[in-house]
Order: sequence, then C-alpha cells, then structure tokens
Amino acid sequence: MTDASADRRLLIASNRGPVSFARGPDGTLSASRGGGGVVSGLSAAADEIPMTWVCAALSDADREAASRAKGGLLDPAELGGGAAVRMLDIPQAIFDSAYNRVANSTLWFVHHMLYDTPNQPSFGLAFAAEWEAFRLYNEMFADALAAAALAASASPGRVAIQDYHLCLAPRMLAERAPGLSIAHFSHTPWAPPDYFRVLPDEVGREVLAGLLGADHAGFLCKRWADSFMDCCEDLLGAKVDRDRRQVSHAGHVTSIGVHPLGVDAAQLRARADEPDVLARMTTLAAATAGRKLIVRVDRTELSKNISRGLEAYRELLRAHPEWHGHVVHLAFAYPSRHDLPEYQEYTAAVQRLAGEIEAEFAVPGWNPLQLDVYDDYARSLAACRLADVLLVNPIRDGMNLVAKEGPILSDRNCALVLSTEAGAAAELSGQALMINPFDVTQTMQALHQALTMSDAERTSRCSALAAAASALPPARWLAEQLRALDRLPGS
Ligand code: G6P
Repeated sequence: MTDASADRRLLIASNRGPVSFARGPDGTLSASRGGGGVVSGLSAAADEIPMTWVCAALSDADREAASRAKGGLLDPAELGGGAAVRMLDIPQAIFDSAYNRVANSTLWFVHHMLYDTPNQPSFGLAFAAEWEAFRLYNEMFADALAAAALAASASPGRVAIQDYHLCLAPRMLAERAPGLSIAHFSHTPWAPPDYFRVLPDEVGREVLAGLLGADHAGFLCKRWADSFMDCCEDLLGAKVDRDRRQVSHAGHVTSIGVHPLGVDAAQLRARADEPDVLARMTTLAAATAGRKLIVRVDRTELSKNISRGLEAYRELLRAHPEWHGHVVHLAFAYPSRHDLPEYQEYTAAVQRLAGEIEAEFAVPGWNPLQLDVYDDYARSLAACRLADVLLVNPIRDGMNLVAKEGPILSDRNCALVLSTEAGAAAELSGQALMINPFDVTQTMQALHQALTMSDAERTSRCSALAAAASALPPARWLAEQLRALDRLPGS
C-alpha cells in the first residue's frame, strides 16, 4: 500500500462492530469477532484497506473494554488484526430507544414492509422521545467521527457509514466536519414512497435529508436505489437527474451507487474446510443417512419467512408422498434480536409449526425435519456443503448472502430456490428457481422441481450461481464505493 492511501485512513461507522467482549468466570475480558453480513463483509475488507472502525458498545463487557482502551482505541494487534476499533459508550436508555425502538422496531419494519397496518404502527408521544434518543445516538457517532477525522491526518478523510441505524449521521457529520468525503451504505431494502409514508412526515423527511448529507449513497440493488430516489422526489421534492445517478437537495448533490455485495469464495471455502465443519458434516451425514437434503440457514427474523418455507415443505410431503423417507429438511434458524417480543413470538410460532410437521409425518427411522434455533456457524457451513436444495424465501431482504454462499459451498451442486424479493435475485434469477415468497404452493412446486432436477442441469446452474455470487467480494465492494467518492468534484 502507498503512503498516500495510509494517509487517507478510512473511517467506518456501524452500530455493531467487528468485535465483542465477554467476561469469563474469572472476571477477565475475552474478545471475539462479530458476526452478520455487514460486519463480516467489512472485516474481510479491513485486511486490505487500513481503517478505524467506530461502533457502539453493545454490552457491559464492551463498555469496560472500551473504557480501558488506551486513547479509547482498541489495538488491532490485540484483536487479531483488522481495523482499529473505537467503541462508543452510549447511555443504556438512549441506546435501547435508538436500537430497539427506532432502528429495529420502526425503520427495519418500514423498509421490510412488515407491519400489520390495521394495528401498527401507531406513533404517539412515546415515539417522540424515542426519536429524540435516535437523534442523540446519531449525534454521538457524528461527534466521534468528526473528532477521529480531525485527529487522523491533515488530508481530507473518507468515512463510510453503514445502514439504517445511522441514517441521520451523514448530514450531522457533514455539518461538523465540512470537507470530509462521506459515503453511506444501506444494507436493507428501501421502502417505496407509499409505504415509507407510514413514518410521521417530519421523521420521514429527516431520514431522507439525513442520508442525503452523504456524498455517495450506496444500495445493494437497483430496486432499493430506485425506491430511495422515489422517496426523495416525493417526500422532499429533491431533484433526481435523468440518468438516476444523483439526487440534489438543499444545495448538495449525492451520487447514488448500486454495489451488490458478494462473497470472497476462496476465504469461505477455506473456512468450510476446517475441522469443526468437517466434524459436523460427518454428524449431519450420519443423521440423514444419504437422503436428499433441503437446507435453509437464517437468522430467526420476521422477514425471513421461515413459516411459509415450512408450510411449503408440509405441502410437498402431502402432495408427493414419494418423498416420504427420502428427503430431510434441515432448517437452521439462529437467534436474533430477542429483546423484541415480536421476534420471540415468531420463533415460538416456527417451532410450533415444526412440531406439527413432525407429528404428521415422522415415523421410526425417518424424521423429515430438523429445526434448530441456536447458533452454530460451523454447522451452517456443513449443511450448505451437503445441501441438494437451498431454500431462501424471504418476504423482503436487502441482499441475502446465504443465497450467494450456498452455491459456492455446495459439494452436491445444490439447486437454489430463491425469493424474487431478495436483493440477490437481481444477480441470481437466471439460474435460481424463482418464487413469490407468499405463494406457498409455488414454493412447494419449486422444491419438487429442485429435488428432481438432473445432475447436469444442477451442475451448470450451480457453477453459474457461484460465479455470480463471487463477482464483487467485500474488499472490492468497499473499494468501489471509495472510488465513487474519489471521483466526486472537490474530493
Ligand atoms: C442484517 C441486516 C443488516 C443489519 C444487521 C443488524 O445483517 O442485513 O442490514 O445491519 O442485520 O443486525 P443486528 O443483529 O446488529 O441487529
């Protein structure tokens, strides 16, 4: 790397950071790498691009580690390489309102269109206080980023802000540190204007204007970028240029980019060759005894549509008794956001449905379904390697990296059944079996077609899927956004 690039050390900001701490029984703190698509993508890029990462402390152990860090900066050498990390000690009450109430119960629900609108949402005085906390949370990030940018170097710095939690921070940061180049990236879908309008008017406008404080706004696929620009036109009266590559508002121009995050195939395959994964492959293969495997791996999240996936599997077993004894569905749903009651209820509903399927079909020697709701990354990789069919059927999803990782990992050239509402559909629809995620019967038919597909067809589809999935690995995905920033006038 050149001195010039080191001089322009990148600042990253996201709610969840690349590392988290836990206190052991003897009171010592131990660090582990954080999970999830955003974090693993950016962490992979950190090996190639020098960066300082600003994130929130998510637990008391994180807070303590942050308070002990020299100059507030956790040393990359002690974290096993990657970015230097600054964890913000955000007061618990502000964090809870910002993360649980606004980010995850409001903005996430809007962008994924998850509300049962006859009953929800309902914005009263309590929301006004929560929104104020969300502003404060974004201000704390903007303050920390402005301070880090000033301290870092004399040259103009670059900042890459991640996701809906930090949608207000770009404008706040631009006001605090004029001259910084600011990118924002949305890892979720973006709601179309008719749905975005469920937000209180001022809140909706503040979200859009906040994000337009960035010089470059990135999205995972064209559909989400278009929805964002439509919202800017409709709600803010902002001007979108003819090519739909720029939004002008309040004297500032934001360039719009589509950067479809992909997978570092070599790194993923190497991880899936480690002994913990091989051991789980042996266990899973023994438990399923050479039967065809339909695999799904998700966080237990309302948008993932696990229930309709199970209903489709039940219809398959009802409509095609020839599969009895010859197929097993592995559904690995690892825990997510369990502070939210909707998520607890959803997990319970999925478990109830799985119980009904077992009660209807299981016989001695054949259990048609293995649903597990605990986290075991190595086991998820093992299941993807063994999959004959991978089911990815979200109601709505920013990208869905499992749809990309599965074909790269599969030893059996899996067929992919994929929702049209996942961002990944933009790149994978030519070779996947596409389904409307609400249409259970269509999903069932696609599962049957996937199970009966010839080896030759599976092989050719799967290798095309794997190639498309690795087209833009994380380091290139980030570099592409930085190039977009560098091309802007004045940078
Ligand atoms: C998923 C989404 C990201 C989001 C993340 C937050 O990975 O695709 O857009 O940032 O969830 O998850 P968390 O567990 O931190 O709430």
